[in-house]
Amino acid sequence: MPLVTMRQLLDEAAAGGYGVAAFNVNNLEQIQGIMEAAQETQSPVIVQASRGARKYAGDQFLHHMMLAAAETYPDIPVALHQDHGNSPETCISAIELGFTSVMMDGSLGEDAKTPLSFEDNIAVTKQVVDYAHERGVTVEGELGTLGGMEDGVGSGEICLTDPAQAEEFVERTGVDALAVAIGTSHGAYKFSRAPDGDILAMEIIEDIHRRLPDTHIVMHGSSSVPADMVERLKAAGGEVDAGFGVPISAIQRGIEHGVRKVNIDTDGRLAITAFMREHFRDNPDDWDPRGAGKAARAGQKLICMQRMQELGMAGHAGDYEPLTLEDMAARYASGVRSAA
Ligand code: G3H
Ligand code: 13P
Ligand code: ZN
Repeated sequence: MPLVTMRQLLDEAAAGGYGVAAFNVNNLEQIQGIMEAAQETQSPVIVQASRGARKYAGDQFLHHMMLAAAETYPDIPVALHQDHGNSPETCISAIELGFTSVMMDGSLGEDAKTPLSFEDNIAVTKQVVDYAHERGVTVEGELGTLGGMEDGVGSGEICLTDPAQAEEFVERTGVDALAVAIGTSHGAYKFSRAPDGDILAMEIIEDIHRRLPDTHIVMHGSSSVPADMVERLKAAGGEVDAGFGVPISAIQRGIEHGVRKVNIDTDGRLAITAFMREHFRDNPDDWDPRGAGKAARAGQKLICMQRMQELGMAGHAGDYEPLTLEDMAARYASGVRSAA
């Protein structure tokens, strides 16, 4: 089937009471690993590309690999999403390319480092919503900032989302989904101890969901950083500064309170690297790149299979008829937001 919108996936997830993982991709093996897992578990799925991913793979390669994924797996609803768009220009270029969903991350300025004011965040996000909705494309905004910094992305400072501001932000921008800051960070080092109520502000999610029951909440920095995978990576000669990640139980609690999109990049990266290192360690005479590529694909697939079961998305691929971008544009124009 053609790529579907994220709005439809999240509306269906809300109706079904589950969460949808959004996996980051940069290359063919990651896309294949995700799609194989989606097929085996019959899961709808969000595939997302950061600006760094678009630069690494090249826009046309990335887009056409995703079209090939949708064509190869016609029964799996899949949305292609721009992760952390830093400006309206980035989001517009993604939409022109064929992405069915974009994140305008106006929590930070165009340098993806300096926090933006509330009013400036609203202004850039609203600009993207107006452009995207006219074309049926979904928009995710962000309020508050995550900790951590990857590839120069992130302020490094955590600023938790204020629920009252979240209400005003959604009303004034019209975003379909809202990324909230509850204490998580991107990357493998999130917490120095297992996170509890003092570290992860789950009550913010509960408060926002009470105020905005129809807005889909997004958890960024949601890798669990599995200790066994970190150990495998290290045992195979790798070095990684890893701490504690977000427990699956916290993600599941979020899903009970309106979290519908769960961003997972680091766990796939760790598994791919562990599997590739093990492959090279165990097969020193293998100089055919397909061996390492298969290992990478298996690592990504393993993580995806687990998360698809844990988030409850497994078994939901066939629940609904996909809507086109034109259908969605007509819905937005008539003031109907939900695609369910
Ligand atoms: O936003 C964070 C994602 O993990 C993407 O990371 O910018 O290194 O591709 P990246
Ligand atoms: P992780 O680094 O926890 O996988 O977070 C990914 C993310 O939030 C992408 O936007
Ligand atoms: Zn993120």
